[in-house]
Formats: sequence, C-alpha cells, structure tokens
Amino acid sequence: MKRLQRLRRTDHLRNMLSETSFSVDQLIQPLFTVEGISKNEIIPGLLNNERMTIESTLKQVESDLKAGVRQFLLFVVPKEKCLSNFNHHFAETAVRAIKERFPNDLTLWVDTCLCSLTTTGHCCVSDENGTPKLDETLKALSELSLCFVNAGADGVSPSDMNDGRVSAMRSVLDEAGHSLVPIMSYSTKFASSFYGPFRLAADSAPQYGNRKHYQLDVRNRSDAIGSSIRCAEEGADLLMVKPGMTSIDLIAPITEKTSLPVGAYQVSGEYAGMALLAKEGLLNFHAGLLESWHVFRRAGARFIITYGARNANEIGLK
Ligand code: PBG
Repeated sequence: MKRLQRLRRTDHLRNMLSETSFSVDQLIQPLFTVEGISKNEIIPGLLNNERMTIESTLKQVESDLKAGVRQFLLFVVPKEKCLSNFNHHFAETAVRAIKERFPNDLTLWVDTCLCSLTTTGHCCVSDENGTPKLDETLKALSELSLCFVNAGADGVSPSDMNDGRVSAMRSVLDEAGHSLVPIMSYSTKFASSFYGPFRLAADSAPQYGNRKHYQLDVRNRSDAIGSSIRCAEEGADLLMVKPGMTSIDLIAPITEKTSLPVGAYQVSGEYAGMALLAKEGLLNFHAGLLESWHVFRRAGARFIITYGARNANEIGLK
C-alpha cells in the first residue's frame, strides 16, 4: 500500500517534497502614481497600496527594494482627461523620475492603456458619440508606449485589449530603435467584476456601458486561449492572464501553445477580498496570500503580479 499521505511530515520533509517553489524575484509590485494630489490617498481594500505623488512613489520604491522587490508595474494617472491628443508630460516625468533615481536596481514595466486618460473611461479613443476609433486608438497606444520607453521604461504592458495593439506597438518601438524592449501583454484579460478597487485607484471607471465588448467573456475558453496566441503571434514577449483566479486553468494550455512565459495578475478585487476577510478576523492574511501564490505557481505561472509583493519578505519568501 502506498503510504506517503500518512508519513509523519516535518516542515523539512514537506519542503523537500514540494513540487513548486518561488521567490520574490517572481513577483511584480504595482504602483499608482497620480497627478494633482499633494499627499498619498488610500485605495479602498488595497491596504498598503496607495495613490502616490511622484515624490512618494520614489520613497515607496526605495522601501520596496529593501524588501527585495525588483519588478514593478507602474500605472500613471494624469489629471486632465480628454477624448484624443493626449498629453504625456506627467507620464514621462513620472517614469523618468523613477528610472533616474534607480537606474539599475529594478525592472520598470509601465501599463499602457488609455482608460486613465480618456473622458469616457474606456480603453480607446472614441468619437463624440462614443463610437471607438480603432486606428486612432492604436496610434495613441503606440505613442504612449514610445513615450514610456523614451523616458526609460524597461518594458511596456498593454492592458487595453484592442485588436492589433501589440503589433502596432512593436513596430513603433522597433522603428525608434527599441527592438530589444520587451512587451508584457495582458494577453488573456476577462471582463471582470474584480477590478473594482483598481478603477478607483486609476480613476478609470467607464462613464457609460462596460468593457464587455473588448474584454473576454469568462465563459469562453477557446476565445481566452486564442487571445493569448494572437498576442504571441503579434510579437509579445511575455503573456499574462487576468484575473489570475478566473484564469487558473488557462495558464498551462497557453504556455504549451505559445512557449512564452505566462504570468498571472492577482487583481485588485482578489487581493481586497482577502484583505477584507482578514479585517473581519476570518483569514490569516499572509497565509491566505501565500496559499494563493502557491496555487498560481502550481498552475504554471512563471510570474505573479500582486499588490502583496512588498510583503513577501515578511511572509517568509526570500
Ligand atoms: C486598465 C487595467 C485594469 C486593470 C489593469 N489595467 C482595469 C480594467 O481593465 O478595467 C485591473 C487591475 C486590477 O484590478 O488590479 N485597462
């Protein structure tokens, strides 16, 4: 009779037998840098993740580096919103400030989307009637990515889900001599109810309708896998599924079909859900967080974007 289940398991034995492990190197910490605020603002549900000024972002990054975090995903939230012809001055200043202060200590990915920039709160350029304009959208996204990279971003991360955005960005970056700069695409991104805290943080809630016509339907597995395959074909270097929890079954097939590294984004609602349980005394937050990360790793995630990256050290990850 096989009796492995009944062995007396010490922690050392459990560690020796564990099939998956990871370190803080595999975690990416999001940052929200916001124009027009004079001090940090709390984001409901996201604990020690706040809306920050450029100055406080630099302080936060410094302390995150001390905690071992090396990968960051920056969201820049400008004050003025418009329909098109976006002004990237603040975005450029924020990225430049971080990279000038920490030139070699970190990898700075910058989220490239339009929903924090548009008056509509949608991830695209629209006309006055709200009709999306794809060509202009792709042009705006490519310009934005070029602006981030020129300001020093190590990689760009399109989260908009407009058709053709990865190839549009790739060619603009290549033409500007940035062919080695990686694109980490939100390649399988569902229309989800779990983005609530984020939309407060990024000031990006849609002003009408929802994102269901450009984000994926959770019911559709083949669409979800196909979306990542298309991003790979368009030249994405890293792929990502989101929300992590609703995509756990897709990581392995996407990896198999594309041979690219696939990560999972533990989104704001997933993280805040655990934070709220903990607040009610119903969950040991650190244990819950670690458990969820282990499951992403077990499912094959090569990296995890999580609001808890800066707590990894405290939790015991090295
Ligand atoms: C922007 C974007 C969103 C998230 C990341 N980039 C929100 C959305 O698509 O509505 C969500 C991240 C989170 O909830 O933590 N398009």
